[in-house]
Formats: sequence, structure tokens, C-alpha cells
Amino acid sequence: MSLLQAPRGVPEYLPGVSADFLAVRNTLGRAAELGGYGYIELPVFEDTAVFVRGVGESTDVVSKEMYTFTDRGDRSLSLRPEGTAGVMRSVLENGLHRGSLPVKLWYAGPFFRAERPQQGRYRQLQQVGVEAIGIDDPLLDAEVIAIADEGYRRLGLRGYQLYVSSIGCRTCRPGYREALQEFLAGLPLDEPTAERARLNPLRVLDDKRPDVQSLLEGAPLPPDHLCDDCREHFSRVQQALTALGVRFTLNPRLVRGLDYYTRTTFEFDHPALGAQSGIGGGGRYDGLMESLGGPDMSGIGFGLGTDRTLLACQAEGLHPGDLSAVDVFLVPLGEAARDAASRLAGRLRADGVRVDMAFGGRGMKGSMKAADKSGARWAIIIGDKELAEGTVQIKHLESGSQRSVPADEVVGAILTGE
Ligand code: HAM
Repeated sequence: MSLLQAPRGVPEYLPGVSADFLAVRNTLGRAAELGGYGYIELPVFEDTAVFVRGVGESTDVVSKEMYTFTDRGDRSLSLRPEGTAGVMRSVLENGLHRGSLPVKLWYAGPFFRAERPQQGRYRQLQQVGVEAIGIDDPLLDAEVIAIADEGYRRLGLRGYQLYVSSIGCRTCRPGYREALQEFLAGLPLDEPTAERARLNPLRVLDDKRPDVQSLLEGAPLPPDHLCDDCREHFSRVQQALTALGVRFTLNPRLVRGLDYYTRTTFEFDHPALGAQSGIGGGGRYDGLMESLGGPDMSGIGFGLGTDRTLLACQAEGLHPGDLSAVDVFLVPLGEAARDAASRLAGRLRADGVRVDMAFGGRGMKGSMKAADKSGARWAIIIGDKELAEGTVQIKHLESGSQRSVPADEVVGAILTGE
């Protein structure tokens, strides 16, 4: 019978790498917690309308990449392709927006997009995200961006860049959209691109093909068409970022792939990742709550790609995780010693020490090999002689030094690191 395989484009993190993966997720989440963001655990699938109305029907994410299915009650459900629309649905459903504002939430977990898989582009992708909802203050934009930056810095990342732009609001965007559409209508674009220019002209600016990019050289750009309020807002965001010591580059061509964005948009890029260099991004989405049937409240947030951030760490030679799975490895020699070791493992674990032991009655040589492989700091060896004396041998695996310790003092000896 042939062996089964994981679906295409779905990464797995096995011991050895998974510690780094967890450290990336925890470190990014910690940066959010330091900013006063509360954790929200969201459903992995939602009513399809949450994403159609929230993210936008004309986006690739919704129109081409969603995993949509009908459940047994004939309801259309979709695996979440992103987190913001679901957070907003939950805020409205649970009335969080009627409490103190801004509502500040963070989340982490898998998202699903039926993209063409390649290095750094997955069908099950992981993100750590934050959303700050209900107060429109440029200082909040700066806070959100600074939290992402702080998360990356805490991991030790240095080689990434932050690009920032503003794409305007419902007052100035229609005028800009018209100017852009007029410009695009005069270009010799192929039919699919011309169609996109009619439906979602901003997305055309993001076309990666060099021939299209050269046609776009003189295109009108969003930051040049901002209304006075948006211009003032954007300049306050930049001032606040500078005051916070966050380094950024203005990129007037920055376009995000989701429809809900307004005003401030940003992306973190790591050049070592090649074609999939976006390690995180986000922006303001002031019309989203209303489009989901709620009151007209503003919001801003980010989604940081956990998988890609891990790739960036690897590219910079960083190992944020604790690679050793255990602190202590127990080596029992003989049947009676195995029982003693199993009891000792329980006592050490109860005191928070990470413990593994040699199972299956392996001999001294094989057990010590397993101890070395485990990455443990200490091996504790228990044989017939030790059992008779009421002692154990503690071996410091790095230096090789070994000493005899009374059995009832072993937990203390490990905890004090002596
Ligand atoms: P997004 O730019 O679509 O934004 O995704 C955020 C990050 O998720 C990307 O920068 C990238 O690192 C990672 N990512 C996206 N797709 C993939 C993929 N196929 N494989 C691997 N990583 C991927 C959002 O999702 C918004 N919800 C972010 C946001 C929150 N905006 C406001 N609040």
C-alpha cells in the first residue's frame, strides 16, 4: 500500500524546527501582549459571507483562493483565508465595540488560501495578527506598526524593510480611482489585466510583470491624490513612527491584496526570501465594520506571516527556539531501576523539569547515545548498585563530569543546577 502524504502546499514543523516555529509565534504574540492586546481564539471556518462582504468579492483571495464547502445543513462555509473579517464579525456579534475603545485583540493560527504552492507560499499559512478597532488616531497606526517591528526585533531579525503608504479614504479614493482608470484605459493591456483595471484598478499597480511595470511608470499614485484629512493623518503617522524610532521607507506604489484597506497601509519585506518576500503587512480598514452590518467604526491591524518570519530567521542564521527538548535524560539499568526512573521522571516533571528516559530496557551504551541526542544537560543513571545504596549518578553531559547524589536530593540538585 502506498504511503499517504500531506496535502500539497501544507508545511509541517517537526521537532528540530518546531521549537523555532513556536518561538516565532510566541515572540510576535508577546509583542502584541506588551501593547495591551487581548488574545482572541477565532473559528477556523466561518459563514462564507463574512469573507465575501469583509475581504471583498473582487479580491483574488476571495474569488480564486477560498476553500469553500457546503455543510450538511446546506450552508456555505469557508476556511478562513485571513483574520480581520472574522475578528470584526466576532466583535460585532459579542458587542465588544460597545465596551471601552479601542478594542485591542491579537490572534494566531492557520489560514487557508488555494494558491500555487512554492517556497514561502503555502495553502495552509500561519499568521500572528492584531486588530485595534473603534478609535481613529494616527498614534494607534504608529503603535500597531511599532508592535510588528518590535516583534521582529525581539527575534533578532535585522535584514527586513518596512514600507509605508496611504491609499486614501472614501472621500478621496473615488477621485483617485477614476484618474487611475483613465490612465489604465489608455494602455495596451492584455484582456485579463484590462478587466482587472475596470474592477479593481489599484491591483494593477501591483502587477509584477516587468512589461506591465514599465507601462505603469507615469501612473497616478495614491499618496498624490489624498484629501487634506488623509494627508494630515498620514503625516502624523510618519511623525509618530519617527518618534518611536521605527525606520520606514515611503512606497507610493504599495498595494495590498485585500479590499478593505483605507489610509495607512504597510508591508514588511525580507529580501532574502526571494519572490515571497512579504513577511507581514496590514493597514487601516475604516469601512469594514459598516460593510459587515455594524456601526461606522474605524480599525487598523496587521497579519505577520509566521512561516515566512521563520524563513527570514533561518536566512539570518537565527534560532529563536530552545532546541533541546529536555533538561534531564534518565538512564535506568535493569528492571527495578526502570520503575525507580519512571517515578523520578514524574517527580521532576511535577517540579517543572523537562524529562525523558530510555525506554525498552536499552543497555548503557544505547541509552547514553539517546541521552546525548536528546540535548539534555544532565543524564541520571540508576543501576542496581545505586538502588541498593539509595543514590543516583548525575552526569553533566557537556563536561562529562559525574557524581553520586542521594536519591531524595536529586530533584533539588537538578533544580539548583548543582
Ligand atoms: P496579507 O498581506 O494577506 O494580510 O497576509 C499577511 C501575511 O501573511 C503576509 O505578509 C505573508 O507574510 C503571510 N502570507 C499570506 N499568504 C501567505 C501564503 N500563501 N503563504 C505563506 N504566508 C502567507 C492579511 O491577511 C490581513 N488580514 C492583515 C491585516 C490585519 N490587515 C489588517 N489587519
